[in-house]
Amino acid sequence: MTYPDPRSSSAPAPPPGCPAHAQNAGGPWQRIYGPDAEPLAPVLEQLRRQYGDVAPVLVPGDIPAYLVLGYNATRDVMQSNSRVVCDSRRGRVYQDGRIPADHPLAPMTAYQPVVAFEDGVPHARLRSAVVDSLDFNRHSLRRYIGRYANRLIDCVASRGTADLVSEYAAQLPALVMAWMYGMPEEESPALVAAVRDLTSGNERAAEGNAFVTRTMEELVRRRRAGEGADNTIGGRDFVSRLLDHEAGLSDQEVVEHLRMIFVAGYTPTVALIANTLLVLLTQRQFSRDLTSGQMTLPEALERVLWDHPPIGLLPTRWAAGDMTIAGQQIKAGDMIILGIEAANADPAAREPGRPVVHNSGHLAFSTGPHECPGRDIGQAIAETGIDILLSTLRDLELAVPEAELQWQSAWVSRRLLSLPVTFTPPRVRGVRAPQPEAAVAGVGRSVGTA
Ligand code: HEM
Repeated sequence: MTYPDPRSSSAPAPPPGCPAHAQNAGGPWQRIYGPDAEPLAPVLEQLRRQYGDVAPVLVPGDIPAYLVLGYNATRDVMQSNSRVVCDSRRGRVYQDGRIPADHPLAPMTAYQPVVAFEDGVPHARLRSAVVDSLDFNRHSLRRYIGRYANRLIDCVASRGTADLVSEYAAQLPALVMAWMYGMPEEESPALVAAVRDLTSGNERAAEGNAFVTRTMEELVRRRRAGEGADNTIGGRDFVSRLLDHEAGLSDQEVVEHLRMIFVAGYTPTVALIANTLLVLLTQRQFSRDLTSGQMTLPEALERVLWDHPPIGLLPTRWAAGDMTIAGQQIKAGDMIILGIEAANADPAAREPGRPVVHNSGHLAFSTGPHECPGRDIGQAIAETGIDILLSTLRDLELAVPEAELQWQSAWVSRRLLSLPVTFTPPRVRGVRAPQPEAAVAGVGRSVGTA
């Protein structure tokens, strides 16, 4: 049996859902979305067995793409900066108009004039501004993370119950990032709500996006008018740094970056905190290793980043010319998806079924020219936030069976919607001063699930 080549724009495109279009296991161009691909992990393992390191797949709208599953192949693609590019205007599906603005892939792949979509010299210019401006003093960063973590915990401490997603994981990164952006504290709750809407993938997304954009425009306007915040001990806020950077970003470029980076930083950091807390509450051996001191909290986070990377699939690469990757022929303009979760699970990189220890070589933050410049910030928020939570709320336990937890699936991301827990309320909780050092030494004594 032969299959049509969905890459060819001259081939008649069957309507989405047409069974002749996508073939399941056994045929090429396997759908990796929709009912055919739930749950996704076994589908990806099947593709690895069938194709090796690179598989032909169909993404929402039956858009054809090549999914890189092998650890070494994924690293190679991430590190390439001329053969494989991030500018989606070079993608054939964009040139053929197959991804309109309301397509599910558009929010992640439609070109925006920001660092994540640029290559070569334009990328280097924007990246230098972003990297330099994100260089926050580690000590003051941790101190403020501690302040916000304690404040959030104070809100729930006396209750003995909490939802660790909506009342903690989803709040902490936004509060910290609002501080980095030099926003007045009273304005951050509205921004938190808008960013949650923007990343919800539902009908509130457009409204959330408009609010976030207006907030960033207003921040730039205030800084230009000389108003605003030097609230970061030892340095100015992120907005002022971007505006003053020698790369000479225009105000519009600064607004675009403020918006994109708030979302790029917030969403995966929420997922890292939530995923780690979930593993701690549901995997007895994991929490035992932490409580017994056999595993430190940073090591626990590394394990989660290997096994449950916040961004599992990254559909943001395009072939700059005809090429072969791991034996698979790829044509100029083809879409290439980085299968970060599958690459982290590749038996070539780790012993199957065994936790990876003392090895930070996972690809959760990518590598190469686009490697996440917020890695230290995301890890500091997750580590300090989880540390303080565990050392304050004793006897933490899941309040519902794991099978009843609510998830939201939106193709590239599967996000935990709530994590109801019970705990023993701490005896004395008052209003606190910022905590200079998180109680890292205390982690491991407090998880109540072992
Ligand atoms: C646990 C938290 C985080 C994870 C897992 C994560 C992961 C990633 C990944 C996989 C990429 C794509 C890299 C590529 O295309 O090769 C990325 C890019 C990026 N991230 Fe993060 N990120 C996190 C937190 C943050 C934070 C806190 C910030 C900023 C405050 C941030 C800012 C960025 C930016 C600006 C880019 C684009 C870089 C470029 O294209 O040159 N991220 N991140």
